[in-house]
Amino acid sequence: MIEPQIETAQTIELISADVKSSGLDKMRVVGGARLKGDIPISGAKNAALKHMCAALLTDEPVQFTNMPNALVDVRTLAQVLNHLGMTVALRSDGVAILRAKEITSHIAPYDLVRKMRASVIVLGPLLARHGQAEVSLPGGCALGGRPVDLHIQGLKAMGAEIEIEGGYIKASAPKGLHGAEISFPKVSVGATENLMMAATLAKGDTILKNAAREPEIIDQGEALIKMGAKIEGLGTPEIRIQGVTSLNGAVHSVVPDRIETGTYMCAVGLCGGDVRLKNTRMDFLTALIGRLEEAGIEITQDGNDVCVHRNGSKLKGVDIMTEPYPGFPTDLQAQFMTMMTLCEGAGMITETIFENRFMHVPELVRMGADITVQGQSALVRGVPKLHGAEVMATDLRASVSLILAGLVADGETTINRIYHLDRGYENIVDKLGQVGAEIERISE
Ligand code: EPZ
Repeated sequence: MIEPQIETAQTIELISADVKSSGLDKMRVVGGARLKGDIPISGAKNAALKHMCAALLTDEPVQFTNMPNALVDVRTLAQVLNHLGMTVALRSDGVAILRAKEITSHIAPYDLVRKMRASVIVLGPLLARHGQAEVSLPGGCALGGRPVDLHIQGLKAMGAEIEIEGGYIKASAPKGLHGAEISFPKVSVGATENLMMAATLAKGDTILKNAAREPEIIDQGEALIKMGAKIEGLGTPEIRIQGVTSLNGAVHSVVPDRIETGTYMCAVGLCGGDVRLKNTRMDFLTALIGRLEEAGIEITQDGNDVCVHRNGSKLKGVDIMTEPYPGFPTDLQAQFMTMMTLCEGAGMITETIFENRFMHVPELVRMGADITVQGQSALVRGVPKLHGAEVMATDLRASVSLILAGLVADGETTINRIYHLDRGYENIVDKLGQVGAEIERISE
C-alpha cells in the first residue's frame, strides 16, 4: 500500500513545463586554482530518468527524493510524461511526485523524443500498463548510431507486435505482455531497464540474461520492488522478474550520481587540492578509483562523503578501457583523458561502448594536448601545460571534460554550446566555484 507521507501530485505546482535550454550560453573558465572545500553530489541522472518512467506502471502517486530536478533532461522527460497523462511535480528541494492516474495518450512524439533519446524508455512501461505505445525512434546522436533493436526484440519476445512506421516504433500488446527468457547479445543499460519494467506487469516469469549491472539499474529495481514488483538477481547478469497484476505507489531516494562524483574526482586529480564530495559513495566507482590511485590521487570514504586529495606531485600515466559495469564507465572516459593530458609519460584510452566518443579530442588538442587517435584507442602523451582557448562542446561528458581542461589551462578558456552541460550537471558553476575555481556562465 501507498505510504502516508506522499502528497498528492495535484497539489504541487508543475514546474516542468516550458523549460528553455540555455541555447547559446558559454562558460568562461580561468585556470590555475587548487580546489579546496565541499561539493554536494546530486542524485543520479541516469537513475532518475528511469524512475520517472517507472511511475507509468501504476495509477498511484510515486515520490522520489534526492532527484536532480534542475537538470534539463529531467524536465524534458517530465514534458514527455506529462504528454502521456502523468502529473509531474518537480520541487526545488529535490522531491519529485509523479502520478499517472490515467494514460491519456500512448504517443511520445518526435518533437519531445528528439531532445532526449532516453525517452525511448517509456516504451516498455507504457506497453505493459496500457497495451499500446508509439514512440518516435530516437535516431542517432553525437556518440554514433545508437540503435534500439535490443529493446524491440525483447518486447517482441514478450508478445508485443511492433512495426516501425513513419519514424515511429508502433507497439501493441492487445492480450497483454507475457514473460519470456531473453538473452541479450550485448550488454545494454537501456534495454535491461525497459524490459525489466515491462516484465513487472507481464503474465508469468521473465529472465533477462547478460543483463546490465549498473548501480542505476539496481536502484531502479529496488524502487520497483517497493512498488510491489517481484525481482531477483539485481546487480548480477541474470535478472528474474515474476509478473504481478498491478503495482502501487512508493517513496524512494535516488542513488548518488557516480558519474558526477567521478567527474569531480578527476577535477581534483587535475588541479590538485582537497575536496570532500558530500553524500556519495566510492564503492560503485571501483574501476575509476583503482586508476586514479595509480595516477597518484588519494580517495577515502568518510561516512556519507568521499574525500579526494592530490598534492603537487605529477600525475602518472595510466591506461584505461571502457566496459559495461563494473568496468571503467564510458561516461568518465573524456574526463579521465583530460586528466591524462598532463601526466608523466603517456596513457592509452580505449573506448569499447560507443563508436564515436572521442569528439573532445580535437578540442583538447587545440588547448595543447598531445593525443593520437587510432580506431577505438587514443594515445595521450603528457604535456607540461594546457593553454586556454575557445572550444566547442559536443555532448554532455565531452563538455565537462573541456571545463576540466579549462580549470588547469593557462589563461582563459571559453566553452561554447554548453547546453549539453545543463542536461546532466546540476549547478556546476556554483559547485566548482565554491571549491575555488574561477568559472562563470556568460549568457548570450
Ligand atoms: C545509458 O545509455 C546511459 N544513458 C549513457 O549515458 C551511458 O553512456 C550508457 O548507458 C552506457 O553506460 C542513460 O542512462 C540515459 P546502452 P544507453 O544501451 O542505455 C548498443 C550520459 O552521458 N545498443 O547500454 O543508451 C549501443 O549502441 C549517457 O549520461 C545496441 O546495439 O546505453 C552501445 O554501443 C550517454 N542496441 C551499447 O549497446 C540496443 O538496442 C551500450 O548502450 C541498445 C544498445
